[in-house]
Amino acid sequence: MKVLHSIAEIRQEVKSLRKQRSLHNHEATVGLVPTMGFLHEGHASLMRKAREMSDIVVISIFVNPIQFGPNEDFERYPRDEQRDLALAEAEGVDIVFLPTVEVMYPSPTKTHVSVAELTDTLCGASRPGHFDGVSTVVTKLFNIVKPDHAFFGAKDAQQVAVIRQMVDDLNMDIEIVPCPIVREEDGLALSSRNVYLSAEEREQALVLSRSLRLAREEIISNPQMTAGQVRERLRREIGTSAIAVIDYAEILSFPQLEVLADDTVLHQCNGEIIMALAVKFGPTRLIDNVIMETKGVSLHV
Ligand code: PAJ
Repeated sequence: MKVLHSIAEIRQEVKSLRKQRSLHNHEATVGLVPTMGFLHEGHASLMRKAREMSDIVVISIFVNPIQFGPNEDFERYPRDEQRDLALAEAEGVDIVFLPTVEVMYPSPTKTHVSVAELTDTLCGASRPGHFDGVSTVVTKLFNIVKPDHAFFGAKDAQQVAVIRQMVDDLNMDIEIVPCPIVREEDGLALSSRNVYLSAEEREQALVLSRSLRLAREEIISNPQMTAGQVRERLRREIGTSAIAVIDYAEILSFPQLEVLADDTVLHQCNGEIIMALAVKFGPTRLIDNVIMETKGVSLHV
Protein backbone atom coordinates (compact mmCIF):
# COMPACT_ATOMS: atom_id res chain seq x y z
CA MET A 1 0.00 0.00 0.00
CA LYS A 2 1.36 3.40 -0.97
CA VAL A 3 0.69 6.44 1.20
CA LEU A 4 1.01 9.61 -0.85
CA HIS A 5 0.71 13.25 0.10
CA SER A 6 1.02 15.25 -3.10
CA ILE A 7 -1.31 15.57 -6.07
CA ALA A 8 1.50 14.95 -8.56
CA GLU A 9 2.47 11.67 -6.81
CA ILE A 10 -1.08 10.38 -6.68
CA ARG A 11 -1.67 11.12 -10.38
CA GLN A 12 1.59 9.36 -11.27
CA GLU A 13 0.88 6.31 -9.12
CA VAL A 14 -2.71 5.86 -10.36
CA LYS A 15 -1.48 6.14 -13.94
CA SER A 16 1.27 3.60 -13.48
CA LEU A 17 -0.94 1.09 -11.59
CA ARG A 18 -3.57 1.43 -14.33
CA LYS A 19 -0.93 0.52 -16.89
CA GLN A 20 0.44 -2.37 -14.80
CA ARG A 21 -2.93 -3.93 -14.08
CA SER A 22 -4.49 -3.54 -17.53
CA LEU A 23 -4.67 -6.54 -19.80
CA HIS A 24 -4.78 -6.28 -23.57
CA ASN A 25 -8.59 -6.52 -23.58
CA HIS A 26 -9.32 -4.95 -20.18
CA GLU A 27 -8.37 -1.53 -18.91
CA ALA A 28 -7.87 -1.60 -15.14
CA THR A 29 -10.57 0.29 -13.23
CA VAL A 30 -10.05 2.62 -10.28
CA GLY A 31 -12.38 2.79 -7.27
CA LEU A 32 -12.23 5.77 -4.89
CA VAL A 33 -13.48 5.88 -1.29
CA PRO A 34 -13.37 9.48 -0.02
CA THR A 35 -13.17 9.72 3.79
CA MET A 36 -12.28 12.11 6.58
CA GLY A 37 -10.43 9.37 8.47
CA PHE A 38 -10.83 7.98 11.98
CA LEU A 39 -11.90 4.93 10.03
CA HIS A 40 -14.38 2.37 11.28
CA GLU A 41 -16.31 -0.63 9.99
CA GLY A 42 -18.60 1.66 7.94
CA HIS A 43 -15.62 2.97 5.99
CA ALA A 44 -14.21 -0.57 5.78
CA SER A 45 -17.44 -1.78 4.14
CA LEU A 46 -16.96 0.83 1.39
CA MET A 47 -13.36 -0.32 0.87
CA ARG A 48 -14.51 -3.92 0.59
CA LYS A 49 -17.11 -2.98 -2.00
CA ALA A 50 -14.44 -1.02 -3.87
CA ARG A 51 -12.07 -4.02 -3.73
CA GLU A 52 -14.86 -6.16 -5.16
CA MET A 53 -15.71 -3.81 -8.05
CA SER A 54 -12.40 -2.16 -8.97
CA ASP A 55 -8.91 -3.34 -9.93
CA ILE A 56 -7.26 -0.48 -8.07
CA VAL A 57 -8.57 0.85 -4.75
CA VAL A 58 -7.73 4.39 -3.67
CA ILE A 59 -8.93 5.98 -0.45
CA SER A 60 -8.55 9.60 0.54
CA ILE A 61 -8.24 10.73 4.13
CA PHE A 62 -8.79 14.45 4.44
CA VAL A 63 -10.69 16.43 7.05
CA ASN A 64 -12.07 19.03 4.68
CA PRO A 65 -12.22 22.43 6.40
CA ILE A 66 -14.62 24.01 3.90
CA GLN A 67 -17.47 21.63 4.77
CA PHE A 68 -17.43 22.64 8.45
CA GLY A 69 -19.30 25.69 9.73
CA PRO A 70 -17.50 28.27 11.89
CA ASN A 71 -18.91 26.80 15.13
CA GLU A 72 -18.52 23.17 14.16
CA ASP A 73 -15.94 20.56 15.14
CA PHE A 74 -13.25 20.95 12.45
CA GLU A 75 -10.44 21.54 14.96
CA ARG A 76 -11.37 18.70 17.28
CA TYR A 77 -12.55 16.22 14.62
CA PRO A 78 -10.93 12.91 15.69
CA ARG A 79 -7.74 11.91 13.86
CA ASP A 80 -5.61 8.75 14.10
CA GLU A 81 -3.38 8.33 11.08
CA GLN A 82 -1.54 5.19 12.19
CA ARG A 83 -4.71 3.29 13.00
CA ASP A 84 -6.34 4.44 9.74
CA LEU A 85 -3.39 3.23 7.68
CA ALA A 86 -3.41 -0.17 9.41
CA LEU A 87 -7.14 -0.55 8.72
CA ALA A 88 -6.75 0.46 5.06
CA GLU A 89 -3.85 -1.95 4.62
CA ALA A 90 -5.91 -4.78 6.12
CA GLU A 91 -8.69 -4.04 3.58
CA GLY A 92 -6.28 -4.38 0.66
CA VAL A 93 -6.24 -0.70 -0.31
CA ASP A 94 -3.62 0.09 -2.97
CA ILE A 95 -3.16 3.81 -2.48
CA VAL A 96 -3.98 6.19 0.37
CA PHE A 97 -4.15 9.88 -0.53
CA LEU A 98 -3.40 11.86 2.60
CA PRO A 99 -3.09 15.53 1.67
CA THR A 100 -2.66 18.47 4.00
CA VAL A 101 -4.98 21.48 3.88
CA GLU A 102 -2.16 23.36 2.07
CA VAL A 103 -2.06 20.72 -0.66
CA MET A 104 -5.83 20.80 -1.23
CA TYR A 105 -6.26 24.55 -0.73
CA PRO A 106 -2.93 26.32 -1.41
CA SER A 107 -4.99 29.48 -1.50
CA PRO A 108 -8.66 29.90 -0.59
CA THR A 109 -10.65 28.36 -3.44
CA LYS A 110 -12.56 30.87 -5.55
CA THR A 111 -14.51 28.09 -7.26
CA HIS A 112 -17.29 26.17 -5.57
CA VAL A 113 -19.54 23.43 -6.82
CA SER A 114 -23.04 23.98 -5.54
CA VAL A 115 -26.01 21.66 -6.01
CA ALA A 116 -29.35 23.47 -5.69
CA GLU A 117 -32.68 22.26 -4.22
CA LEU A 118 -31.43 18.92 -2.87
CA THR A 119 -29.42 20.94 -0.37
CA ASP A 120 -32.35 23.08 0.83
CA THR A 121 -33.52 20.53 3.42
CA LEU A 122 -32.10 18.37 6.24
CA CYS A 123 -28.35 18.91 6.79
CA GLY A 124 -28.30 21.47 3.98
CA ALA A 125 -30.70 23.66 5.98
CA SER A 126 -29.03 23.01 9.36
CA ARG A 127 -25.46 23.40 8.13
CA PRO A 128 -25.33 26.30 5.62
CA GLY A 129 -22.51 25.85 3.10
CA HIS A 130 -21.82 22.28 4.19
CA PHE A 131 -22.79 20.62 0.92
CA ASP A 132 -20.95 23.21 -1.21
CA GLY A 133 -17.86 22.19 0.75
CA VAL A 134 -18.60 18.51 0.16
CA SER A 135 -19.35 18.77 -3.57
CA THR A 136 -16.32 21.01 -4.10
CA VAL A 137 -13.86 18.69 -2.34
CA VAL A 138 -15.37 15.59 -3.97
CA THR A 139 -15.00 17.23 -7.40
CA LYS A 140 -11.35 17.99 -6.61
CA LEU A 141 -10.77 14.39 -5.46
CA PHE A 142 -12.45 13.09 -8.62
CA ASN A 143 -10.20 15.31 -10.76
CA ILE A 144 -7.08 14.21 -8.89
CA VAL A 145 -7.75 10.45 -8.78
CA LYS A 146 -9.94 10.11 -11.92
CA PRO A 147 -11.82 7.07 -10.59
CA ASP A 148 -14.26 4.90 -12.55
CA HIS A 149 -16.33 4.20 -9.43
CA ALA A 150 -16.73 6.13 -6.19
CA PHE A 151 -18.24 4.65 -3.03
CA PHE A 152 -20.46 6.50 -0.56
CA GLY A 153 -22.39 5.33 2.51
CA ALA A 154 -26.18 5.60 2.84
CA LYS A 155 -25.47 6.85 6.39
CA ASP A 156 -25.10 10.23 4.68
CA ALA A 157 -28.06 9.74 2.35
CA GLN A 158 -28.40 13.40 1.39
CA GLN A 159 -24.71 13.41 0.47
CA VAL A 160 -25.32 10.45 -1.87
CA ALA A 161 -28.26 12.26 -3.51
CA VAL A 162 -26.23 15.47 -3.90
CA ILE A 163 -23.15 13.75 -5.36
CA ARG A 164 -25.27 11.72 -7.78
CA GLN A 165 -27.00 14.89 -8.98
CA MET A 166 -23.65 16.66 -9.39
CA VAL A 167 -22.17 13.77 -11.37
CA ASP A 168 -25.24 13.65 -13.64
CA ASP A 169 -25.48 17.42 -14.12
CA LEU A 170 -21.78 17.91 -14.83
CA ASN A 171 -21.37 14.74 -16.94
CA MET A 172 -18.68 13.30 -14.73
CA ASP A 173 -17.88 9.86 -16.09
CA ILE A 174 -17.96 8.16 -12.69
CA GLU A 175 -20.33 5.56 -11.29
CA ILE A 176 -21.52 6.46 -7.79
CA VAL A 177 -22.01 3.30 -5.72
CA PRO A 178 -24.14 3.72 -2.57
CA CYS A 179 -23.43 1.25 0.26
CA PRO A 180 -25.72 0.27 3.17
CA ILE A 181 -25.40 1.73 6.67
CA VAL A 182 -23.22 -0.30 9.02
CA ARG A 183 -24.50 -0.41 12.60
CA GLU A 184 -23.31 -1.60 15.98
CA GLU A 185 -25.13 -4.67 17.26
CA ASP A 186 -27.43 -2.52 19.36
CA GLY A 187 -28.43 -0.44 16.32
CA LEU A 188 -26.25 2.69 16.65
CA ALA A 189 -24.99 3.69 13.20
CA LEU A 190 -21.18 3.79 13.15
CA SER A 191 -19.75 7.29 12.97
CA SER A 192 -16.35 8.82 13.62
CA ARG A 193 -18.20 11.24 15.90
CA ASN A 194 -19.44 8.45 18.22
CA VAL A 195 -16.15 8.83 20.18
CA TYR A 196 -17.44 12.18 21.44
CA LEU A 197 -20.26 10.46 23.35
CA SER A 198 -20.16 9.85 27.11
CA ALA A 199 -21.45 6.44 28.27
CA GLU A 200 -24.79 8.05 29.12
CA GLU A 201 -25.07 9.85 25.75
CA ARG A 202 -24.07 6.64 23.94
CA GLU A 203 -26.93 4.80 25.68
CA GLN A 204 -29.42 7.58 24.91
CA ALA A 205 -28.31 7.73 21.26
CA LEU A 206 -29.94 4.34 20.68
CA VAL A 207 -33.19 6.29 20.41
CA LEU A 208 -32.17 7.20 16.83
CA SER A 209 -32.19 3.70 15.36
CA ARG A 210 -35.02 2.61 17.66
CA SER A 211 -37.37 5.38 16.55
CA LEU A 212 -36.58 4.69 12.89
CA ARG A 213 -37.15 0.97 13.35
CA LEU A 214 -40.48 1.49 15.11
CA ALA A 215 -41.67 4.00 12.51
CA ARG A 216 -40.65 1.65 9.73
CA GLU A 217 -42.59 -1.22 11.30
CA GLU A 218 -45.66 0.98 11.64
CA ILE A 219 -45.45 2.10 8.02
CA ILE A 220 -45.25 -1.51 6.92
CA SER A 221 -48.19 -2.67 9.04
CA ASN A 222 -50.47 0.36 8.62
CA PRO A 223 -51.53 1.09 5.01
CA GLN A 224 -53.22 4.35 6.11
CA MET A 225 -50.15 5.82 7.79
CA THR A 226 -49.50 9.44 6.78
CA ALA A 227 -46.30 11.44 6.67
CA GLY A 228 -47.59 13.61 9.51
CA GLN A 229 -48.16 10.56 11.72
CA VAL A 230 -44.64 9.36 11.00
CA ARG A 231 -43.17 12.74 12.03
CA GLU A 232 -45.23 12.63 15.20
CA ARG A 233 -44.17 9.01 15.90
CA LEU A 234 -40.47 9.84 15.43
CA ARG A 235 -40.66 12.94 17.63
CA ARG A 236 -42.56 11.12 20.37
CA GLU A 237 -40.04 8.27 20.50
CA ILE A 238 -37.04 10.59 20.45
CA GLY A 239 -38.76 12.57 23.21
CA THR A 240 -38.45 9.53 25.50
CA SER A 241 -34.77 10.44 25.83
CA ALA A 242 -34.40 13.24 28.35
CA ILE A 243 -31.22 14.60 26.77
CA ALA A 244 -32.02 14.29 23.06
CA VAL A 245 -32.48 17.63 21.27
CA ILE A 246 -34.02 17.27 17.82
CA ASP A 247 -32.47 19.22 14.95
CA TYR A 248 -34.78 17.54 12.42
CA ALA A 249 -36.99 14.44 12.21
CA GLU A 250 -38.25 14.41 8.66
CA ILE A 251 -39.84 12.27 6.01
CA LEU A 252 -39.16 13.04 2.35
CA SER A 253 -39.15 11.46 -1.07
CA PHE A 254 -35.83 9.88 -2.05
CA PRO A 255 -33.65 10.79 -3.87
CA GLN A 256 -35.59 13.98 -4.76
CA LEU A 257 -35.67 15.04 -1.09
CA GLU A 258 -39.02 16.75 -1.34
CA VAL A 259 -40.69 17.13 2.05
CA LEU A 260 -43.90 15.05 2.08
CA ALA A 261 -47.04 16.94 3.12
CA ASP A 262 -48.51 15.81 6.45
CA ASP A 263 -51.58 14.26 4.81
CA THR A 264 -49.58 12.14 2.33
CA VAL A 265 -50.58 8.48 2.68
CA LEU A 266 -47.28 6.65 2.37
CA HIS A 267 -48.65 3.50 0.79
CA GLN A 268 -50.00 5.66 -2.03
CA CYS A 269 -46.58 7.14 -2.85
CA ASN A 270 -44.48 5.93 -5.72
CA GLY A 271 -40.83 5.14 -5.30
CA GLU A 272 -38.73 5.47 -2.18
CA ILE A 273 -39.03 7.60 0.91
CA ILE A 274 -36.45 8.54 3.52
CA MET A 275 -36.94 9.08 7.23
CA ALA A 276 -34.02 11.20 8.35
CA LEU A 277 -32.95 12.30 11.82
CA ALA A 278 -30.40 14.74 13.19
CA VAL A 279 -30.37 14.83 16.98
CA LYS A 280 -27.99 16.33 19.50
CA PHE A 281 -26.82 14.45 22.58
CA GLY A 282 -24.90 16.99 24.64
CA PRO A 283 -22.63 18.81 22.20
CA THR A 284 -22.63 15.93 19.70
CA ARG A 285 -24.93 15.96 16.71
CA LEU A 286 -25.68 12.53 15.23
CA ILE A 287 -27.57 11.63 12.07
CA ASP A 288 -29.33 8.45 10.99
CA ASN A 289 -31.90 7.45 8.38
CA VAL A 290 -33.90 4.68 6.82
CA ILE A 291 -34.71 4.55 3.12
CA MET A 292 -37.62 2.34 2.19
CA GLU A 293 -39.91 1.52 -0.65
CA THR A 294 -43.31 2.93 0.08
CA LYS A 295 -44.83 -0.51 -0.28
CA GLY A 296 -43.06 -1.11 3.02
CA VAL A 297 -40.02 -3.12 2.01
CA SER A 298 -36.88 -1.62 3.44
CA LEU A 299 -33.93 -1.42 1.09
CA HIS A 300 -31.27 -0.09 3.38
CA VAL A 301 -31.52 -0.46 7.11
P1 PAJ B 1 -16.79 10.54 6.39
O1 PAJ B 1 -17.77 11.02 7.39
O2 PAJ B 1 -15.43 10.10 6.85
O3 PAJ B 1 -17.45 9.34 5.63
C1 PAJ B 1 -16.80 8.74 4.53
C2 PAJ B 1 -17.78 7.77 3.89
O4 PAJ B 1 -18.09 6.73 4.80
C3 PAJ B 1 -19.10 8.45 3.51
O5 PAJ B 1 -19.52 8.03 2.23
C4 PAJ B 1 -20.03 7.97 4.61
O6 PAJ B 1 -21.39 7.93 4.22
C5 PAJ B 1 -19.50 6.59 4.86
N1 PAJ B 1 -19.93 6.11 6.18
C6 PAJ B 1 -19.77 6.72 7.38
N2 PAJ B 1 -20.37 5.99 8.36
C7 PAJ B 1 -20.93 4.91 7.76
C8 PAJ B 1 -21.70 3.80 8.23
N3 PAJ B 1 -22.02 3.65 9.50
N4 PAJ B 1 -22.11 2.89 7.31
C9 PAJ B 1 -21.80 3.03 6.00
N5 PAJ B 1 -21.08 4.06 5.50
C10 PAJ B 1 -20.65 4.98 6.37
O7 PAJ B 1 -18.64 11.72 4.36
C11 PAJ B 1 -17.54 12.21 4.49
O8 PAJ B 1 -16.55 11.66 5.27
C12 PAJ B 1 -17.13 13.50 3.77
O9 PAJ B 1 -18.25 14.32 3.61
C13 PAJ B 1 -16.45 13.24 2.40
C14 PAJ B 1 -17.39 12.54 1.42
C15 PAJ B 1 -15.16 12.43 2.58
C16 PAJ B 1 -16.05 14.62 1.76
O10 PAJ B 1 -15.19 15.31 2.59
